[in-house]
Amino acid sequence: MNFTNRDIIGISELTKTEILHILKIAKSLKQKPQPKILEHKVMGSCFFEPSTRTRLSFETAMERLGGKVVGFADPGVTSAKKGESLFDAIKIIGQYVDVIAMRHPIEGAARRAAEATDKPILNGGDGANQHPTQTLLDLFTIQECQKKLEGLSIALVGDLKYGRTTHSLAQALAHFNAKLYFVAPDSLQMPGYICDELKNNNIKFSIHQKIEEVINKVDIFYMTRIQGERFADPMEYERVKNVFVLNAKMLEKAKPNLKVMHPLPRVNEITTSVDKTPHAYYFEQAENGLYVREALLGLVLGKL
Ligand code: CP
Repeated sequence: MNFTNRDIIGISELTKTEILHILKIAKSLKQKPQPKILEHKVMGSCFFEPSTRTRLSFETAMERLGGKVVGFADPGVTSAKKGESLFDAIKIIGQYVDVIAMRHPIEGAARRAAEATDKPILNGGDGANQHPTQTLLDLFTIQECQKKLEGLSIALVGDLKYGRTTHSLAQALAHFNAKLYFVAPDSLQMPGYICDELKNNNIKFSIHQKIEEVINKVDIFYMTRIQGERFADPMEYERVKNVFVLNAKMLEKAKPNLKVMHPLPRVNEITTSVDKTPHAYYFEQAENGLYVREALLGLVLGKL
C-alpha cells in the first residue's frame, strides 16, 4: 500500500483496506508516540473557513511528529483579500511546504487546490461536500468504543443536507455493512446521490424525522449541528435550528453500548446533561483526530 504524496480529498478515494491501514497506524501512534519522524518537514495550514478541532489537531499532529507548521486561520490576512485566486495561492504555498492541510467554504476547492500543486492536499472540509479526515477519526472512534466496525446500527442525526461529515461517514460505512438511520427534517435529509450510492451497494438505510424512533435501536448516535452558515434563507434556519435536542433523559432506554458522537462544535443539540452519561463519547472522538491526522501526515509524507 503506497500513500506517499497522495491527496486525501474525498473518502470514496480510499479502499476499505486503505481505511483499515490508516486506522491501524493511528492506533499505534496513540499507543506509542513518534516524536521525530517528520523532522525537517513543513505543513502548510491553510484555513479559509473557521475551525477549532481540524486545524489545531492537524497542527498539533505535525508538531508532535517533529515537523513544523506555517499557515493562516483567516484568509483575511492573506492575499486572497487582494483578489488572489485559490489556485495561485496553493501553487505558491506548495513551493514552500511539504504537505498542505486546508479548509475552504466552496465545494470542490480541495480538488482545485490539488490541481495547483504536486504536494499532498489533505481536505479538512470543502463547503457542504466532504470532510474525509473527520470520517477517518469517526471510524477510528467507532472501532475504539464498539470494538468493531462491521454490522453496527448507526443513526446520523441533524443536518444531513449541509453536514459534510455525514456525507463522508455514510459513504465510508458502506464498507462495513452498517444499518443506517437518517434522522433529519425533510428539508435537511441526506442528499439523493449518497442514498443512490448506498442503494447500489445494498446498504440498508431508513429515513426518520424523530429521535425517539431510533434512539433505542442503535449502537452509535451521531448528532450534528444545523449548519446555519450554509442556509441561503435565514428564516429557514430559524425554523429548523432547534429541531433536535438530545438530553440525558432521552437516553434512559438506550442500548448499554450506545455511544453518542458529534463532530463538534455543538450549539445546543446535545445538552450538557448528556456529558455526564456513560453514552457521551464526543470529547474522546475529538482527541482521536490527533492520532488519525498524525497517521495521515506520516503516510502521505512517506514516513510511515
Ligand atoms: N469537527 C470539526 O470539523 O470541527 P472544527 O470545525 O472545529 O474543525
